[in-house]
Amino acid sequence: MTRLPMASLDGKKIIVVGGSSGIGYGVAAAALEHGAEVVIVGRSAQKLGAAEKRLGGAGRVTAIAADMAREADIARLFDTVGAFDHLVATAGTPPPNYPIGETDMDFVRRFVDGKLTGAVMLAKHAARTLSKGGSMIFTSGINKDRPPVPGGSVVAAVAGSFSYFARALALELAPTRVNIVSPGWVDTEMWDEIVGAAKTGYFNEMGTRIPSGRIATPADIAPAYLYLMQNDFMTGETIHIDGGQRLV
Ligand SMILES: NC(=O)c1ccc[n+]([C@@H]2O[C@H](COP(=O)([O-])OP(=O)(O)OC[C@H]3O[C@@H](n4cnc5c(N)ncnc54)[C@H](OP(=O)(O)O)[C@@H]3O)[C@@H](O)[C@H]2O)c1
Repeated sequence: MTRLPMASLDGKKIIVVGGSSGIGYGVAAAALEHGAEVVIVGRSAQKLGAAEKRLGGAGRVTAIAADMAREADIARLFDTVGAFDHLVATAGTPPPNYPIGETDMDFVRRFVDGKLTGAVMLAKHAARTLSKGGSMIFTSGINKDRPPVPGGSVVAAVAGSFSYFARALALELAPTRVNIVSPGWVDTEMWDEIVGAAKTGYFNEMGTRIPSGRIATPADIAPAYLYLMQNDFMTGETIHIDGGQRLV
């Protein structure tokens, strides 16, 4: 009989770094619906507690506080979880948005540490305990394709680097698979932090311009992560899921 390439997530253990909010929360909720066991990770224990409660999950959710910019935290995370099946990293903070001449280098270093160096550290420690047949999925974004002007150069560089990170790592760690999801704008808590009440105006304006006719919710984006976990022929790839935002 031909083996189906889409693996079930039933009983699989999935670590979602960034799972207490936004896109990561959406991935955690979707994975639970597909029968997985989920470990959500973020820095704030309070946010994790609230997310754990909201997710429900009938005993299939664990929350672990860890900062992906700190290697000791990451090492402890994987030591605590032990064997697991998929790593999803959506964690990130608002990017620097200064014109290049006004760049605050401390902010840039914190941003790169939290996002890119953090991804390298996650991969380093995840590789110790990731089960055979497992995968890692990191998150880039539309800012590499449509950088905000002015101030988009740093976030574009960081987001753009993820595709090449995944390609190299997919070769090095094979048969473990490594992939990237690159979302367009998604209505998450990060936007509240960046633009506050102006969010509705930004979303209405962009929603009328893009082919999908609206801005995504985390639930729209989560299936891309699930697909990459389930299709064991996908590796070294970047999935763009942006409602056609790169076309406009
Ligand atoms: N929303 C969009 O429109 C969009 C579009 C394209 C790409 N993206 C990218 O997608 C990622 C997620 O965005 P989002 O909108 O889902 O953001 P969000 O709603 O603010 O969620 C971010 C999550 O990451 C966690 N986190 C942040 N820094 C962390 C760290 N150093 N260590 C561990 N956890 C950390 C946060 O919890 P704590 O604060 O408690 O740590 C939270 O759970 C970001 O990298 C963003 O650049 C977003």
